[in-house]
Amino acid sequence: MKNILVTGGCGFIGANFIRYLLEESDFTGRIINVDKLTYAGNPENLAGIDKQFSGRYHFVKADICDRQAMEMVFEKYQIDSVCHFAAESHVDRSIVEPDAFIKTNIVGTFNLLELARFYQDRIILFHHIGTDEVYGSLGESGYFTEKTAYSPNSPYSASKAASDHLVRSYGKTYNLPVTISNCSNNYGPYQFPEKLIPLTILNALEGKPLPVYGEGLNVRDWLYVTDHCIAVWLIMQKGKRVETYNIGGRCEMRNIDVVSVICDMIDELVTKPGNSPRRDLIAFVKDRPGHDQRYAIDFSKLETELGWIPAESFETGIKKTIKWYIDNSGWANRVKSGEYMSWIKQQYDL
Ligand code: NAD
Ligand code: TYD
Repeated sequence: MKNILVTGGCGFIGANFIRYLLEESDFTGRIINVDKLTYAGNPENLAGIDKQFSGRYHFVKADICDRQAMEMVFEKYQIDSVCHFAAESHVDRSIVEPDAFIKTNIVGTFNLLELARFYQDRIILFHHIGTDEVYGSLGESGYFTEKTAYSPNSPYSASKAASDHLVRSYGKTYNLPVTISNCSNNYGPYQFPEKLIPLTILNALEGKPLPVYGEGLNVRDWLYVTDHCIAVWLIMQKGKRVETYNIGGRCEMRNIDVVSVICDMIDELVTKPGNSPRRDLIAFVKDRPGHDQRYAIDFSKLETELGWIPAESFETGIKKTIKWYIDNSGWANRVKSGEYMSWIKQQYDL
């Protein structure tokens, strides 16, 4: 792989992945980052990368749904591999405004697949970033494996399920060299503060209410973003073509426990005016419609075939994450100054 097209590289996981590939991995080629810069895309997540890795990093502002613009990228940069992160990624937004999810996640993925098919002679790999949410919801026991039937419950997960199916079908029908990874909830630096963990950290630091849906008993499996990036790169290099790999953090927690741990850790690091515990900020709010009860990942395929396990526990990962948000308050303030805050306020009536 010499010229990797990374889509959505200015988002949370994409930016961490580009940093990992250029700063830490053994990759020696070029990265071409295509991002439309939606509300979730922030070039600041990759500030300085173009100078630090001059000639090895290129940014193109484009919509993956724009076939002509994407064709120019494939042509100009002689793309030989794709790692496809670009998506509308927030479940709550998909409930309120599903249109963009259908366009970007389904039509956008289809466009990229068509271009990969057109340039198939030189395509080494099309890797698609999927989510465990395609498998639906678990009860108290059991795990999602790669064989679990798809059963998406939100417009977001339905659109991601559709894109997974398209990718797989291009592998089966056209022999396009594809791989898919379905991962659990990521957390870490550069995550847009509409998702549970960054929203909780930033609100807790500012003494604002911490919205917890329903009774906070829903369970997610938390994966530190760098562990995810390491797994993706491993799958890209060594994963079997037209196969899916689950990636999990081995870190199941109820939402209320996640929020409580963050409150306690911030209490230890930063004194709160008035000194009352930050847990007092927890506000139970209306539940999400169709809220999946529990996600839990069985990643034994990835562990057995490729030898990957997550390096971070929740305790070590969340400590790093909280410290990052404290040390990067400028980043957070700039991100929060956009139209996003009004959306959050409108949603939760806080
Ligand atoms: P994100 O919302 O932070 O970033 C998405 C990026 O895609 C943004 O930079 C945005 O500008 C870009 N984008 C959106 N529409 C585009 C379009 N039409 N054309 C070009 N660029 C576009 O998302 P994330 O959390 O980094 O997630 C990345 C991928 O990982 C997504 O495919 C998501 O479904 C998947 N995923 C995320 C998680 C998680 O916990 N965050 C878990 C499982 C899977
Ligand atoms: P989120 O970070 O949106 O990820 P996903 O919906 O993809 O799992 O939410 C994680 C969990 O936290 C989910 O069960 C919904 C819940 N949640 C809250 O309780 N409060 C919040 O403010 C948010 C954003 C999420």
